[in-house]
Amino acid sequence: RTRVLTGITTTGTPHLGNYVGAIRPTVQASRNAHNDGFYFLADYHALIKCDEPARIQRSTLEIAASWIASGLDTEKVTFYRQSDIPEIPELTWLLTCVTGKGLLNRAHAYKASVDKNHEAGKDTDADVTAGLFMYPVLMGADILMFKAHKVPVGRDQIQHIEMARDMASSFNHLYGEHFVLPEAVIEESVALLPGLDGRKMSKSYDNTIALFAPAATMRKQIAAIVTDSKAPGEPKATEGSALFQIYQAFASAEETATLAQAYADGIGWGDAKQVLFERIDREVAPMREQYQSLINNPAQLDKILLAGAEKARQLATPFMRELRHAVGLRALA
Ligand code: TYM
Repeated sequence: RTRVLTGITTTGTPHLGNYVGAIRPTVQASRNAHNDGFYFLADYHALIKCDEPARIQRSTLEIAASWIASGLDTEKVTFYRQSDIPEIPELTWLLTCVTGKGLLNRAHAYKASVDKNHEAGKDTDADVTAGLFMYPVLMGADILMFKAHKVPVGRDQIQHIEMARDMASSFNHLYGEHFVLPEAVIEESVALLPGLDGRKMSKSYDNTIALFAPAATMRKQIAAIVTDSKAPGEPKATEGSALFQIYQAFASAEETATLAQAYADGIGWGDAKQVLFERIDREVAPMREQYQSLINNPAQLDKILLAGAEKARQLATPFMRELRHAVGLRALA
């Protein structure tokens, strides 16, 4: 069986980027009996970016409810919260000790902070925590702990998965073949969903469209997608149109071709936004009610997550024991 694993950081309300990049592909993968799914809420990762406890709590609920409402069968997959697996931070340390500092220096998120400080004439590590620097190692532990073969993600995460491969190779080279080398799985058409302003849709840019907002809110958010100022009747370019790219991530090839034609025929932006709203709403509306009922029942979600953690630890606990032996923390078996 193919082990498929991915996580979402619990720092905000799940948006359409998370849906097309992680939630939808994993729900689909979980319907294939050849796959063995491991899906989790990356709440330790959340602490790197967020120091608001209430927000992390809320986000954990929202992401868990979104995944389940989108069709994830938590009986068939292993669905858990990262912080319920104490073996993850333990493995993080073992990996830390085989990871080159230079490798981490090159991580995009860390480098972006350093470059920004440099441009501002500040100390390059100003306001950079060791947590941000170690982000890829924690993520490596998430992936390697469960011997994942495939990791479905958006394009922004590819580098992290390559780093996890590096860590696995280094460890295997030193201590024997313990880890599986993971591979990123990217669905090209949705690899980088743009947000309202055309940049990558991201919590950090505040340009997101929430997945399970009430229909009226979603309509309002869609109305805020930035377009050019071409009037109705003037032909519009699909290239570089965030609206078009978002539509494409939800529509069939045929529907996409129809919208492309409408662009060429000069559809007005208001009408195009209506078409987009209706298409997304058609996919999401049937799940909204279950989302609401799950959100209103945190105790039930907690129970599901704890049961998932128990399943996950049935693998993590003995594997960690094996790794402790491998590195010499315990007598060799
Ligand atoms: P996070 O929480 O930023 O995003 C979760 C998933 O959603 C994808 N995604 C997008 N895909 C397409 N277009 C977008 N605009 C967009 N925005 C987000 C992300 O690529 C990701 O797949 N470090 C990870 C969480 C993580 C993880 C892991 C993932 C922790 N451990 C182990 C895989 C395996 C993150 O912050 O994703």
